[in-house]
Amino acid sequence: MAMIHAALALAFLFILTATSLAAAPAGAQQSPANEEAVGIEAANSVGRLRVIALTPTVLRVRFAPGGEFAEDASWAVPANVRAQRAAITRRSNGFSTSALQVAVDPRTLALSVTDRQGKLIHADTGVPITLEAGGFTLRKAMPAGERYFGMGDKTGPHDRRGASFVNWNTDAYGYGAATDPIYKSIPFFVAAGGQGGAYGLFLDNSHRSWFDFGHRQENVLALGSPGGPIDYYLIAGPTVAEVVRRYTDLTGKAPLPPRWALGFQQSRYSYMSDAEVREIAARLRSDRVPTDVLWLDIDYQDRNRPFTVNRQTFPDMRRLARDMRADGLKLVAITDLHIAHAPGEGYAPYDSGRAGDHFLKNPDGSTYVAPVWPGPSVFPDFTRAVTRRWWGDLYKGLVDDGIAGFWNDMNEPAIFETPTKTMPLDTVHRIDADDFRPRPAPHAELHNVYGMENSRATFEGLQGLRPNLRPFVLTRATYAGGQRYAATWTGDNNATWDHLKLMVQQLVNLGLSGFTYAGADIGGFTGGPSPELLTRWYQLGAFTPVFRSHAAKNTPRAEPWVDGPEHLAIRRRAIEERYRLMPYLYGVAEQHARTGDPVMRPVFYDYPGALAAPCDTSMTFTVGRELMVAASPRPESPQAYDVCLPVGGWYDYWTGERVRGQPIEGNTAVERIVETPRLERLPLFVRAGTILPRQPVTQSTAEKPRGPLSLDIYPGPDCRGELYWDDGETLGYRRGAFLRQPIRCAVGESGLQISFAPRTGSLKPWWRELAVTVHDWGGAAEVRTNGRSVTAEEDGPARALRFTLPDPRRGTEVVISRR
Ligand code: GLC
Repeated sequence: MAMIHAALALAFLFILTATSLAAAPAGAQQSPANEEAVGIEAANSVGRLRVIALTPTVLRVRFAPGGEFAEDASWAVPANVRAQRAAITRRSNGFSTSALQVAVDPRTLALSVTDRQGKLIHADTGVPITLEAGGFTLRKAMPAGERYFGMGDKTGPHDRRGASFVNWNTDAYGYGAATDPIYKSIPFFVAAGGQGGAYGLFLDNSHRSWFDFGHRQENVLALGSPGGPIDYYLIAGPTVAEVVRRYTDLTGKAPLPPRWALGFQQSRYSYMSDAEVREIAARLRSDRVPTDVLWLDIDYQDRNRPFTVNRQTFPDMRRLARDMRADGLKLVAITDLHIAHAPGEGYAPYDSGRAGDHFLKNPDGSTYVAPVWPGPSVFPDFTRAVTRRWWGDLYKGLVDDGIAGFWNDMNEPAIFETPTKTMPLDTVHRIDADDFRPRPAPHAELHNVYGMENSRATFEGLQGLRPNLRPFVLTRATYAGGQRYAATWTGDNNATWDHLKLMVQQLVNLGLSGFTYAGADIGGFTGGPSPELLTRWYQLGAFTPVFRSHAAKNTPRAEPWVDGPEHLAIRRRAIEERYRLMPYLYGVAEQHARTGDPVMRPVFYDYPGALAAPCDTSMTFTVGRELMVAASPRPESPQAYDVCLPVGGWYDYWTGERVRGQPIEGNTAVERIVETPRLERLPLFVRAGTILPRQPVTQSTAEKPRGPLSLDIYPGPDCRGELYWDDGETLGYRRGAFLRQPIRCAVGESGLQISFAPRTGSLKPWWRELAVTVHDWGGAAEVRTNGRSVTAEEDGPARALRFTLPDPRRGTEVVISRR
């Protein structure tokens, strides 16, 4: 293979500015007259490197082999985001922004980025760019002690150092902890622990790219692709949280989902009939398992044909949906992308798709046909805007029937009876969307974005059909930016303890990769869990963003009640707690929509010192900033284990008591406690300084809670909280129909002061009163608000103080003094 080393050729270097291209140094090459770039360009006989500052902390790096840049278009980063430019100052061999210094070595074209103090954030190493027959390799330095996270749903441990991955969306039925590639391609990682702080790298290339984190060559982070543009973004922190927020500024944030999607969801492949769906619903209700959603897998359809209903087994879908809704339950139905190849059979999706020329083609121009669930099938070309619109309209019937959400599965796309599990690489798409130049393109280029564009078509179709309701779509395959359209899950996992662990690792890394709404099949899809494993899975799943129980055909049942009343009681308790926490959880979801902060986070997201915690943190994560789950890193073992709690103080969620950690020698960022596993206990901690809103348990999010909103105050530093609420379903919140109220508390010598800021938004809440509990409070107290005294009850054994306030709509101060 002919290799050209960019570094060997003579390089030219010049600065690009929006205002004055004449600022380029004498002798430098001129850039095109219409060049809008602000940054630096360096060129040699191999190609041209261009680095542009979109914002003071986000750089876009492109390399043009032979000097000609690939078209400026992207499936992940919208054109208006790519068009941003930050102000820069020229420097020798580079430029600086208000946050970064960027330098390109004129000899090797090696890039290095430091902060303004000169601390290294990111640097190329060795031969920075190598070109190989249409593809390329980039080489980056891996400083000792730096750790790597993200890369979507990829398996293996949290930290990617030492591992190597390929991005190629794959139907990975029965995958294990070392299988790669699997369902999704999110070519983005966050590097943490380096000298200049955390940074992120997103390679915006939809081909079969690969990332090698020092696996092949120690301390060299190599990445590349066999095709497509050299086009990547460097995102500086210095914190991990800032990197993730900025990555979601580029690729988008998941919008606020309907609140019911945060409830418990019960699924199975498949509930076979109307009668079975009703039976499951009745059992969930009689066992008092709070539930919001029942799922319809492929067997509700006629011969597995998408957008049909088997009228023998589901004679009246509209009535079923209505009856379920009356019981507080929504239906979500699967609608796979493969359309049955059924010419002349009156199957409308085939007929209209054929008439509109919406299907992918073979290179000879004939329609590509291959087997999936319905038998011979055809495949919509979701890379065309017109095809996406046609697809979106197919939902009308099911939407009119009252189906609330939709599931896009098999969209890697999965193909049966072929060793590659997918379609031939030369299958022809006809790109015609966004700012792409309309052109035919091979599947090799579009494979990794196919699932995302499928879910986009569904999302946009639902927006058109129900303009005032928030769509809910679940997709299996996706690409960077797919979080704008759909939630996701980790596919066909197994009923093993390993997979319980893998769930945490995958969901945490998905959250860091922009995909906050992710879940795993509770109980495992294949195999069948032991009672203990299933109980643990429900407990832990209750704290994951998408909480859905699902299992394959011919596996044992895995609904909450299957192992008898004792297991049911523990599982129900976990599910109930999720519903109690809904005001908090929903607030975290709203925060994600604004900031990109994941719902489920590694502890070091909010507590950077925890990155170097000397505990096994593989089963530890936070939900928002305030709640920390610390399950056993050997979940099948009865042995005690250490939990590292960031310094600052924590409370035991279940008892409300303050936790006393032991200092760890040589580490001032965390303290240690010891947990001994007990099946009925999921170790859960609340940060000292939290004001935690909760509600009475309901059987679904559709039910109005009875009683006051409870507010638990866990005194400590930086004591604050926020109430956020809206109708949970419509877009009314975008027009002011929401409620937001920041709350602060201050701990002083004589007691505690709670300040409720005035509310914003026009929403009237369901609560009239607040039931306040102050934890870690010994002794008698006097409570006053607005000059009036409030009766408070001392709970000696729990070391808590309790009182009730009228809903402080306009804001108020509450003063609690020791007596
Ligand atoms: C795939 C999905 C699984 C689903 C099944 C039938 O295996 O991953 O969740 O139940 O197809 O639709």
